[in-house]
Amino acid sequence: MLKIKKVAVVGTGVIGIGWIIRFLAHNKIVYAYDKNLKQKKILIDEIKRALPYVKKLFNKKKINLNNLKFFLSLEEAVKDADFIQECAPENYNLKTVLMREISKRCKKNVLISSSSSGLLPSKIFSKCKNIQRGIIGHPFNPVYLLPLVEIVPGKKTSKKSLKIANKFYKSISMNPIVLKKELPGYLSDRLQEALWREALHIINDGYATTEDLDRAIEDGPGLRYSLMGTFLTFHLAGGKAGMKHMLEQFGPTLKLPWTKLKAPKLSKKLSERLISGTKKQAKGKSINQLSNIRDEYLVNLQLFRKKYENKIRK
Ligand SMILES: NC(=O)c1ccc[n+]([C@@H]2O[C@H](COP(=O)([O-])OP(=O)(O)OC[C@H]3O[C@@H](n4cnc5c(N)ncnc54)[C@H](O)[C@@H]3O)[C@@H](O)[C@H]2O)c1
Repeated sequence: MLKIKKVAVVGTGVIGIGWIIRFLAHNKIVYAYDKNLKQKKILIDEIKRALPYVKKLFNKKKINLNNLKFFLSLEEAVKDADFIQECAPENYNLKTVLMREISKRCKKNVLISSSSSGLLPSKIFSKCKNIQRGIIGHPFNPVYLLPLVEIVPGKKTSKKSLKIANKFYKSISMNPIVLKKELPGYLSDRLQEALWREALHIINDGYATTEDLDRAIEDGPGLRYSLMGTFLTFHLAGGKAGMKHMLEQFGPTLKLPWTKLKAPKLSKKLSERLISGTKKQAKGKSINQLSNIRDEYLVNLQLFRKKYENKIRK
């Protein structure tokens, strides 16, 4: 495998910044590109805010911020990179054109990974030069703390590209899942989206507030989810007979109208309920204040979880 030392990040919004922080924490030289110069200040401020949490999680004394270069030219950012992480807005046309432009300007064998949340790689990379190097590397926010990355191949992605991406992401302290083939929404967002759709229906129909629904996750399933996913959790819900009894007991509820799944219309009234509901939940705390609370929690949770994670997975 080519040594990956220099990484280009294309698009420096929420996710691009997250990747940049993770790459810097793992001693990479980072070439960042955004169309919008305003992002540079946001990027620097966010790095400063997140640095203490990243240092603690990865047990680092110092992170060299001189390894970061910001460009307003795509060509300058990608031409010398050993790996490219694309983080531009979620839009088929935009990403398809961007991938073509990146692939024309970067070295011909470097991997191009898209952070897309659910678009099909075969479409995004359809105009990419050397299409076999195009993959999805879908992370989770905050990227500098959460280890999951879904690696999704398109129809023309080579096995070699998947292998390189898997090895590279592991080298920056991530736990990749390599999907067998592409599907819309991949794995995790498909699950999240189902939860989100049901939550929107419940709010829309006036049964609960955004705070009630958040509590319904935070104080119950959410506490378990950081250790066990749906299947292992339900295995334990079946008593001594495990999943077998769980299916006998709860199998029939699959036929009851517990879920709607087709999303409701995102009307003005529904949007207003979501915006005012979450504003109320924030109790005057800014996004930065909430991010600090979340980051401190996620660092401590992961340090704590290591011991239990090993017991479950090994
Ligand atoms: N926000 C999340 O929780 C999340 C999680 C995982 C994956 N993603 C995915 O990451 C990608 C980026 O999402 P985000 O939330 O960071 O969006 P964002 O809106 O915060 O940032 C997008 C950035 O891209 C820049 N941009 C716009 N056009 C560009 C172009 N042609 N070339 C380069 N940069 C351009 C914008 O100036 C902006 O800084 C999307 O594909 C999204 O689906 C988002």
